[in-house]
Parts: sequence; structure tokens; C-alpha cells
Amino acid sequence: MNYSDLAPSYIRAIAPYQPGKPIAELERELGISGIVKLASNENPLGCSPQATAAMLDAIKTISLYPDGNGFELKSALSKRFGVEHSAIVLGNGSNDMLELAARAFLTVGDTAVYSAHAFAVYPLATQAVGATGVSVPAINFGHDLKAMRQAAVEKKAKLVFIANPNNPTGTFLPAAALLEFMRALPANILVLLDEAYNEYLPQECRYDAVAWLQEFPNLIVSRTFSKAYGLAGVRVGYAFAGADVADMINRVRQPFNVNSVAQAAAVAALQDGDFVRRTNELNRRGMQQITAGLHKLGLEFIPSYGNFLSFKIGDASKVYRRLLELGVIVRPIASYDMAEYLRVSIGLESENDKFLSALAQALGEVK
Ligand SMILES: Cc1ncc(COP(=O)(O)O)c(C=O)c1O
Repeated sequence: MNYSDLAPSYIRAIAPYQPGKPIAELERELGISGIVKLASNENPLGCSPQATAAMLDAIKTISLYPDGNGFELKSALSKRFGVEHSAIVLGNGSNDMLELAARAFLTVGDTAVYSAHAFAVYPLATQAVGATGVSVPAINFGHDLKAMRQAAVEKKAKLVFIANPNNPTGTFLPAAALLEFMRALPANILVLLDEAYNEYLPQECRYDAVAWLQEFPNLIVSRTFSKAYGLAGVRVGYAFAGADVADMINRVRQPFNVNSVAQAAAVAALQDGDFVRRTNELNRRGMQQITAGLHKLGLEFIPSYGNFLSFKIGDASKVYRRLLELGVIVRPIASYDMAEYLRVSIGLESENDKFLSALAQALGEVK
């Protein structure tokens, strides 16, 4: 018997998420060391030393279940962002928030809208609950908010996913465009604004979507500790929403979806503003280094507001494989309908250097 036949057709149709290749896997395959991984938008500085200390301390009580309500973490978030506990949902990474929102609000026959080239988990989360996803063509790789609103209204969508900045394109929507979109959208359509890379935004682009929750009870804002806080491995993210939306999402959440080590790490990480500032500064310089290097190689790229950059390379899978042999892992993004592009995460100066020289070598050989 083929047991996959037991799964609903919409589950069988899911194309699995392709994560960045782990360093250990490439080491095993090629027997090389000194590999640089710039494939998963991780923080090259690691995490805050205060978060590390908090995790080591939390391990002492690892035999106990975590606080299923995440009181300490919600208190820290509440203090930082000025929201009530009832407006906060905690997740196993912000990926969990995306899936939980889909699970809470979508079912077979419902529709969700997202942009072409937007984060891969939006279609996955939509499909996993049997709902229909509508991908709206992008403008210059960025979200076309007007077309997304039209599609949402026409298709009677229940949920719209927006990534700002978006991964893998790095494109950014200014606050005014988002506000215009929210004001024009019927209030019975939910909007999940995914701000996984929010902390990387330069000062002049900053906006406060959390404050918008007062005006828009249909808004869900999700954030993560995986990127600027450097805690991708412990899996912790969060979302802010109106109390009744948050309540629905909490109902489908596993009672202990955020482990105790992750909760402790997140509380400590939130206190360490200096670490996030250093992360930002490193990212800003690394972005300059990589864009200058790509210019020099005569390669086109999409200007990015995140901690990564997508560049056009032609035969991307060939270059990707050659880069692997040279000990550099980047991310192919053909599944985002960007077969001629590769995405590179911004690393330490030495890692960026290694990437740029490997790329120069690969280009010379592949041409
Ligand atoms: C746009 C976007 N949203 C959400 C996530 C999920 O990250 P995490 O589950 O680690 O918070 C990612 C991860 O790459 C992302 O790029």
C-alpha cells in the first residue's frame, strides 16, 4: 500500500520547503572543512552573551515543562512594545506564527493571498490546511499592494500575507504604502504582516506597525528572535494582534510550543540592545562589501533591506554547485520563480570575502 494515498490531496501536493544546506552535510559530502554558510539569513555574530548565560541557567530546570503562557517573555514584550499580554502570541519561531494563523482562520474552500517571490511558507501554510493560495504578480520583485488588495477582495480572501522586508527579494514597503493598503482593505480580511527582518531596517525606513493595531483589528504583526537576535536554533518568534484574533491563534497552538530555554534566551536577548546595534552595524558594512563586490563582478542584484541579497547569475544551479565545492553555501531560489538568481546572507567580513572570491572563481570557470 502507498500510505501517501491516505493523506488528503492538498497535503500530497505540497512541495517540501528546501532549507539551506547544513555545514555538516557539505563536510560529509565533500570531506572539506572551513566551510562558510551564507544560506539561511543567520546572524554571523551568534547571539547576545546575556542570552547564552540565560540559556545555560535555564537548562538547570529542563526536566520541567515550560510556562505554556510564556509569562516572563510576554511581560518583556509587553514592556518593550506597549501591548497587553492578551494581544501577544508566542511561537516556535515566527514560522509557527504563520502556520498557526493559517490553521486558526483558514480551511478547505478559503483563500489566502500573497505576492509572487514572497516567503515560501505562505503557500505552504495555506496548502497545509487545504485552503487555496493566490499568488499576485510582483512589481520589480516587490509586493504590488494594489493588486493584492484587488485579488483579496475579488477572491473573497480571509488572509493576506505580507513580508516586509520580503525574503528572498529583500524588497521593502514604506509605511505610507502599508497604511494606504490597510485603510482600503475591507476589515473582514486579516493581514499578517511578517516583520522577520524588521530590526535591520535603516532608521529612515522605520515604522511602528504595532501601534497600528489600535486602528486595524484585522492586523497581525509577526516578528522573530531568529535573525537580528541570533537565536534561530532555539526557535522563538511572536505575534501581536487584537485580543480576539490572538485568542483564536492561541487555541490552535501546542500548549508548550516555545521551550523554556528559548523563552529565557528571548527575555535576555530583548534586554541587550547593544547586541542588536552591533548586528545592524555589521550587516550595514557587510551589505556594502557584498554589493561593491557584485558591482565589480558586473552582476545585477536586487537592493535589499534585510540581512541577505539576491543577485542574478544566469546558470544559478551550476554556480551554486561550484560554490559548494569551493566551500561556500548560498541559497538557490528557483522555487521562488527566480531560477537565474542566488541569495547570499550577509556574513562576517572574512566570510563575505571568501564568498566574493569563490564567486569570481566560479564565474570565470562557468562562463
Ligand atoms: C520572511 C520570513 N518570515 C519568517 C521566517 C521564519 O523564521 P523563524 O521561524 O526562524 O522565525 C523567515 C525565515 O527565514 C523569513 O525569511
